Amino acid sequence: MIVVKSRSGELLRVEGFRIRVFEKLSLPSIGERLRAIREAGWNTFLLKADSVFLDMLTDSGVNAMSDRQLAAMITAQDAYAGGRSFYELASVVEDLMGFKYVIPVHQGRAAEHLLAKTLVREGSVVPMNYHFTTTKAHIELAGGEILEIPVREALDRRSMHPFKGDMDVAKLEEALRKLKDRIAYVRIEAVANLLGGQPVSMANIKHVRELCEKHGVPLVVDASMIDWNIYFIKEREPGYGSKSLKDILREFLSYADIVYMSARKAPSVRGGLIATNSREFYEKLVVHLPVYEGFLTYGGMSVKELAAMAVGLAEMVDESLIGSELGLISYVVEELDRKGVPVVLPPGGLGVHLDALEFLPHLPRTSYPAGSLASALYLVSGIRSMERGALSMDRDKYGREIYPDIELVRIAFPRKTYLRSHADYLIDRILWLYEHRDYVKGLHWLYEPPILRFFLGRLEDVENWGERLAEAYRRELGEY
Ligand code: F0G
Repeated sequence: MIVVKSRSGELLRVEGFRIRVFEKLSLPSIGERLRAIREAGWNTFLLKADSVFLDMLTDSGVNAMSDRQLAAMITAQDAYAGGRSFYELASVVEDLMGFKYVIPVHQGRAAEHLLAKTLVREGSVVPMNYHFTTTKAHIELAGGEILEIPVREALDRRSMHPFKGDMDVAKLEEALRKLKDRIAYVRIEAVANLLGGQPVSMANIKHVRELCEKHGVPLVVDASMIDWNIYFIKEREPGYGSKSLKDILREFLSYADIVYMSARKAPSVRGGLIATNSREFYEKLVVHLPVYEGFLTYGGMSVKELAAMAVGLAEMVDESLIGSELGLISYVVEELDRKGVPVVLPPGGLGVHLDALEFLPHLPRTSYPAGSLASALYLVSGIRSMERGALSMDRDKYGREIYPDIELVRIAFPRKTYLRSHADYLIDRILWLYEHRDYVKGLHWLYEPPILRFFLGRLEDVENWGERLAEAYRRELGEY
């Protein structure tokens, strides 16, 4: 954002870009939405994008790209091996992130796969501020387990702690002492996704680094949403307000032994990477690349996306381009909070997060409040959000449900995609749903896959509540 002083002396933040390509949207009627969500098994992942008005499922792979990124896609050098575009990416990674070795991969979970394959053994433990679904799956598939140690405030949705993504360093130290030989690495997710898009402070990663060094354990940073994390450090952490985003990025990543990212997020392309300064880690990781991803200089990505990634990484630290969607998220969160709707505070990155257990207090956890709320929100608005609660966890090995600490519905704001009127529409429909929340009666399974069940699982609305919610909508608001 371009920040200037306004007439009244307050700071005015203005988007440092304009939009020159747009995509027409259409709003399906309430009848069409009811049909679509039924056909999708009450799972927003299974909706066709054409049935969706505002697609706020994720920020992954759907951010607006810049004119410079599109231009780079045209000049990308399409070589199987040794293409110029790879070397351009490597030089941006070195300059911006401070790492000598870079390994391109087809997306974030591919990086997680290679890391787990290389560093995790049967019985390994990976302490982290919080898990992400694919991260946990890869560590467990390799025989390890995760240990989540977020700060206490992270699980209190009302806490205004400015860095709820921080790790509890006392618990980390205890784990490092007690489990020393079993710890494969420590992992920090910069902007903790499932905690409601909450950032990690510089002070915290620095402290974590000191502990890792003391105990001889590598620190791995998941930098998929690092653009938002560094922006929050600049905005919220004492001593960083006058530093450049580039300096903040370099300092943050200087504490990591290995960094990886889903490049579908911060750099707004479709791909991923792993970077390190350790020759030893690089060699261990890169041998798997030709088997699982592709040759060293494209790693399963389209070379066009690889070229656009180099530009996208540089744009992450361009002060005038960053923060637009964070302003919208904070606008929606503050409006909803004022009206008493349970949202995760303070406003973070990634999206607006509703607390489903508080939103639907009449539902037992066995009937999946967050899944019910995500499908109800689609029904009353055509807005697609994502369940981040019990459905997003898989059962344990005895077939028992694992209920996460928090059940959220995430309404993502992809970068530079939606406008203020979209935010107003979202607020209006959430408020209407909140007033009619008693209609929502929960979901039960029709088909439950054994792993990452939230992607492909199919459910049904208990007692046909969808029909009655749609009738109430039609009575009060009409067909649209
Ligand atoms: N790490 C984090 C923090 C993520 O948010 C994601 C993906 C991944 C790893 C995996 O990356 O999708 O490129 O394989 N998050 C997406 C989301 C799916 O919607 O939040 P991927």
